[in-house]
Amino acid sequence: MSTDPFDEKAATWDADPQKVERAGAVARCIAASVPLAPSTRLLEYGAGTGLVTQALRESVGPVTLADTSRGMRDVIEAKIRAGRLVDARVWDLDLERQPPPDAAFDLIVTVLVLHHIHDLRSVLTSFATLLAPGGHLCIADLAKEDGSFHGADFDGHHGFEQRALTADLSAAGFTDITFTDCTELVRDGRRYPVFLSSCRR
Ligand SMILES: C[S@@+](CC[C@H](N)C(=O)[O-])C[C@H]1O[C@@H](n2cnc3c(N)ncnc32)[C@H](O)[C@@H]1O
Repeated sequence: MSTDPFDEKAATWDADPQKVERAGAVARCIAASVPLAPSTRLLEYGAGTGLVTQALRESVGPVTLADTSRGMRDVIEAKIRAGRLVDARVWDLDLERQPPPDAAFDLIVTVLVLHHIHDLRSVLTSFATLLAPGGHLCIADLAKEDGSFHGADFDGHHGFEQRALTADLSAAGFTDITFTDCTELVRDGRRYPVFLSSCRR
């Protein structure tokens, strides 16, 4: 039996209008922050069901969607088979445990994933390795919060402070680091701001 909590969430992920709207909002923030072109090779890391890539699909070139959850990858593969995601491939990739594959991208997007990552600097360094020179990284994630978003048992990051994340991005070799307010999550009546950080290798 699967121990990945995202496996059981995958089948109904897209039925939540908040998740679909959030993906659209993040895609608009990305489009306003970095150049997108038909030649842009996109990697979405921790893609879930691929909602953000779907929202960017018409603006970029070939897409690669990576996720550690078998359930999430099954949903993406079903979308590819149904023609809802074209020129797309799926990777089972955990950069906390695996080296970066031998591939190059012009844009890496990661949405609400890094707060689950313990070894942040190692994963950011792998992103830098996967990016072609001049390529961009876009991170959408929770701003620093009081821990109420996931609750007491969560052992990841309670959101991010701009200064600390900037230091981690700089240490991984990124430049031109910017932050903008992007969208928000609502959970149990509370609002949690989501930022978009973009930077360049
Ligand atoms: C909160 S969900 C966000 C999914 C999607 N980005 C979205 O915005 O709809 C976090 C996703 O990150 C994936 N994930 C968690 N840890 C990961 C890791 N170490 N490497 C790759 N993916 C990971 C989970 O399986 C899940 O699909």
